[in-house]
Amino acid sequence: VQNEKDSQYIISNWAKDHYHKLLLESEEGQSIGLSYLRQRGLNQQTIQTFELGYSLDLWDDLLKAAEKAGFERKYLEKTGLAVKKEGEQGQDTGRRYDRFRGRVMFPIHNVAGRTIGFGARTLKANDKTAKYLNSPESDIYHKSDVLYGMYQARQAIRAEETCYLVEGYLDVLSLHQGGIKNVVASSGTSLTESQIRLIARYTDNVTVLYDGDAAGIRASLRGIDLILEGGLNVRVVLFPDGDDPDSYIRKVGDQRFREHLENHSKDFISFKTDLVAREAAQDPVKKAEAIRDVLQSIAKVPDPIKRQVFLQQTSGTFGIDEQVLITEYNKLVKGAV
Ligand code: CTP
Ligand code: MN
Ligand code: MN
Ligand code: MN
Ligand code: MN
Repeated sequence: VQNEKDSQYIISNWAKDHYHKLLLESEEGQSIGLSYLRQRGLNQQTIQTFELGYSLDLWDDLLKAAEKAGFERKYLEKTGLAVKKEGEQGQDTGRRYDRFRGRVMFPIHNVAGRTIGFGARTLKANDKTAKYLNSPESDIYHKSDVLYGMYQARQAIRAEETCYLVEGYLDVLSLHQGGIKNVVASSGTSLTESQIRLIARYTDNVTVLYDGDAAGIRASLRGIDLILEGGLNVRVVLFPDGDDPDSYIRKVGDQRFREHLENHSKDFISFKTDLVAREAAQDPVKKAEAIRDVLQSIAKVPDPIKRQVFLQQTSGTFGIDEQVLITEYNKLVKGAV
């Protein structure tokens, strides 16, 4: 089993180098891939630090190169770099093709810096296929255990005592380039317990910087509860609708972006309170729902002292008598068990 995994690490590392070389040295890589990354504002240093690459727009470039380098084809399959071509009845035709073609490649590293998988963005304006393709699960890549950028971020997370959590690859790259290096991405999937435990190795403090659209807000709300359950402290920063951290830092520049983080960072109670205030400030029914919602989040906090502090804060924020609130909280918690 160890040999099996080692072979998958080795071929992933080789593929990462192959794609990186293509980006920097091939004509197609330079004219299509590199110029795209430049146009997105990324510099040489960032491209090197994250070992970005490019896959040629061919069906078998990687397959051929792997054969030439003497790799067994089965490891390309096991890491999802090559895909089985199935016949009409779903039978194996024995033929294979490259999964990633004509895309910018984002190697995904584990915390030891080894390449375990890839994200890949199309460069075509109206591609019929997904904007991002990702490596499938393999013996070395468990999507739900990984945060993109953790290898490059972990020292900064320790030093800054905060981890910024974003949605996408480009968000990580732009913030890192802008000097905010304590940043990782959940890569579009909803956050998992295991990803939170990974963050907890380095810090107790998470600030969620999701996209400023309805989906981003929903994901933030889900993320908040999971982070609280994991015993970590959570703050949230919202961006204008239509912006994500990458587009916003490009728009306003590094300095104003930092100011935005400082001025708009909210703890989860204020975040939830403000969301309600936007919609239903005067509606007592909505307000009561919002308070119960905050209480549900507080119930997830493992530390009883923190729970007490949050209850006090909620009482102040909503102008509800603390005893009334505690009675309601106790009812809710009992009801939940
Ligand atoms: N994602 C994915 N598959 C998709 C769409 C998105 O895996 N079909 C993941 C990627 O990790 C992506 C993240 O979700 O980075 C956020 O998606 P989105 O906000 O749509 O993309 P951006 O990261 O903002 O990418 P870009 O700025 O290049 O459009
Ligand atoms: Mn797993
Ligand atoms: Mn989005
Ligand atoms: Mn984006
Ligand atoms: Mn986005």
